[in-house]
Amino acid sequence: MQIKLIEPRGFCFGVRRAISLVEEALEKNLEKKVYVLHSIVHNEKVIEDLELKGAIFIEDLKEAKEGNVLIISAHGISPKLRNEIQNKDFKIIDATCPLVEKVHKEAIKFSKLGYEILLIGHPGHREVLGIMGEAPMHLISSVDDIENLALNIRDKANSKIACLSQTTFSVEKARKIFQAIKEKYSNLVTMADKDICHATQVRQDALRKACDWADLVLVVGSENSNNTRELLNLALDLGIESYLISSKKNLDKNIFLKKEKVAITAGASTPEYVVEEVVGEIEKLNFQRI
Ligand code: F3S
Repeated sequence: MQIKLIEPRGFCFGVRRAISLVEEALEKNLEKKVYVLHSIVHNEKVIEDLELKGAIFIEDLKEAKEGNVLIISAHGISPKLRNEIQNKDFKIIDATCPLVEKVHKEAIKFSKLGYEILLIGHPGHREVLGIMGEAPMHLISSVDDIENLALNIRDKANSKIACLSQTTFSVEKARKIFQAIKEKYSNLVTMADKDICHATQVRQDALRKACDWADLVLVVGSENSNNTRELLNLALDLGIESYLISSKKNLDKNIFLKKEKVAITAGASTPEYVVEEVVGEIEKLNFQRI
């Protein structure tokens, strides 16, 4: 009975950067409070660990006392909220992932050029809320949403439509949505695939390969992490029994019955020690790493 740890998995560059910025702010501002607006990354263990070091996580700007440090999370914020923060007395540290920032800039650029903007993403996700604040745009989460699109298009052949994407969306699903948009509207600006960040793409590719081998897939990460859920859905769509495991505590031993090949991956915000703890529990059931 074997365990395969899929490579690459876990922390991406944007997550590492965001966590280091919080740690650095805590070290350098001992006399101040260090607030983080929204979860710095979507993982409860990361939040717990940073809280123990002194970070204060808030959901509303009103919870923060001026004169202190305020950190913007890796998912970014809308320009309206940024403006609100800048008009207050905070030492601002921006941990927005540069790849999310890139999508914000694209939204601004295409809006100025007069394009209709479509954003492939999940409603309510922090990153999506931030990008949607940059310009008027239509959010699409599935091929079905294209049917109901009400675009301002007078001349279909010369229409100007830009298609952007949430950085952690499923590569496969974004491609299908993009194809469907292209079929309905000509003259699209091709972009969806390039907005999905490299870390998301390579983690999804590696999992797809591992699904040829595995009879059980575990994705270690948090329920509220989009890239983690996309990994889970990918394995499920490929027909493999799969589970999202947030920590060793919610590992149900019954799922290993009659299983011989367990592939394990982790969301981009999952610390490696959480993966190791999960693997440690599975090893107790006589599975061995290969
Ligand atoms: Fe950035 Fe992609 Fe990670 S957008 S935070 S590198 S998952």
